[in-house]
Amino acid sequence: MDDGRTDGTLTADRVVPLDAAFFADPHALYARLRVEEPVARAVTPVGLPVWLVTRYDDVRHALTDPRLSKDSDGFARALERQPVPPEGRAVFAQELNRHMLSTDPPDHTRLRKLVSRAFTVRAITAMRPQVEAIAGRLADRMAAGPAEVDLLDTFAFPLPMGVICELLGVPEGERTSFRRWSNTLLASDGAVDARTAAGMAMAEYLTALVAEKRARPADDMLSAIVAAAEDADRLSFEETVSMAFLLLVAGHETTVNLIGNGVLALLRRPDRLAELRADPALVPGAVEEFLRLDGPVNLATFRHTTEPVEVGGTTIPAGEVVLVSLASANRDPDHYTAPDELDLHREASHLAFGHGIHHCLGAPLARLEGEVAFRTLLARFPDLTLAVDPGELTWRQSILMRGLTRLPVRLR
Ligand code: HEM
Repeated sequence: MDDGRTDGTLTADRVVPLDAAFFADPHALYARLRVEEPVARAVTPVGLPVWLVTRYDDVRHALTDPRLSKDSDGFARALERQPVPPEGRAVFAQELNRHMLSTDPPDHTRLRKLVSRAFTVRAITAMRPQVEAIAGRLADRMAAGPAEVDLLDTFAFPLPMGVICELLGVPEGERTSFRRWSNTLLASDGAVDARTAAGMAMAEYLTALVAEKRARPADDMLSAIVAAAEDADRLSFEETVSMAFLLLVAGHETTVNLIGNGVLALLRRPDRLAELRADPALVPGAVEEFLRLDGPVNLATFRHTTEPVEVGGTTIPAGEVVLVSLASANRDPDHYTAPDELDLHREASHLAFGHGIHHCLGAPLARLEGEVAFRTLLARFPDLTLAVDPGELTWRQSILMRGLTRLPVRLR
């Protein structure tokens, strides 16, 4: 297989490997693909052949085309057609995969409608005091602890995890295990046994949690979802567990990276950091810019074709897996001026929350968490700096999630 990077040119029949070099610097490859091969053949770390869409207009269009499906059964069939080694076949356990992000209409419409009211801007605005309280408690703990910490461990993870667990009604106990399972599940390398085990542990835990909410309903979102499930026409048991899974995973895996990637972007640009400190009114716009520049679901999101589909002049056959790159779209120079620059005053919108019917349900919550997180960090830690050389930072090997493995900082 041609690795395509040796001579700096791309040819029409080559296959682009999404390997360690790609994870270390996806933007370099995307920049070339946008110009030379905007709908490219690629192969994921577990050997799955995919089509990779990188231009803004094509990405936006692909996300609204109903022939590019999210249905998990269709995806499993598409996988069967591909020459994938066994480790590439480990997909999420089906009992965790009956959620809105793995379905097309009409199931998608029914599942999303069940919870959409809880995530409107208005409903989420009411949560601001809770989010501020959680962020404040974490900052207190950090201020009283060691001067050097992993910011992901001490702040970026526990903030969104605390918020989504409070919202859903998940007890404190298993939150650390949950993070480990979730990290393992979303990794794109070949550790198939670990991923299967993590999926099983997660399914067992969530099944018990759903049973607990059924036995002892409380004033929380999971109890409300379980109550809706009692009416079997609205939600099956698998759909209930899957909904809990999606909300918990989407609710924390993403925002941890919004905070981590955003803090890194600022620490690499002390001039921008100083600008933001001087004018905290810029924070909401800065959060949008962090999402564009290195958004959490940054690398790509999966679809599969239900029939031949033309994207950007290339016809993708039926039953193929398609990776739609939000990261690449968000840095397309045909759409943004100086796309690789952190510009706190940029007004253009981005695709970090996706587009179309699956547009992120949690976007209002993520924006609120991001805003509170950056306001809190700026106010409480005026001397925040990176504790390592930026070259020592490593990125998670996940196609779905763009995030650092650790973010060592000095707080004072
Ligand atoms: C869907 C990004 C935070 C819940 C999505 C999608 C993206 C995304 C790109 C669409 C994926 C696709 O079309 O394949 C993000 C980012 C976040 C974030 C960048 C943080 C910065 C959250 C939070 C929640 C959440 C806090 C809260 C529970 C969801 C749900 C869906 C979704 C339920 C599925 C929507 C559907 O299928 O209709 N998110 N998300 N997300 N997100 Fe988020």
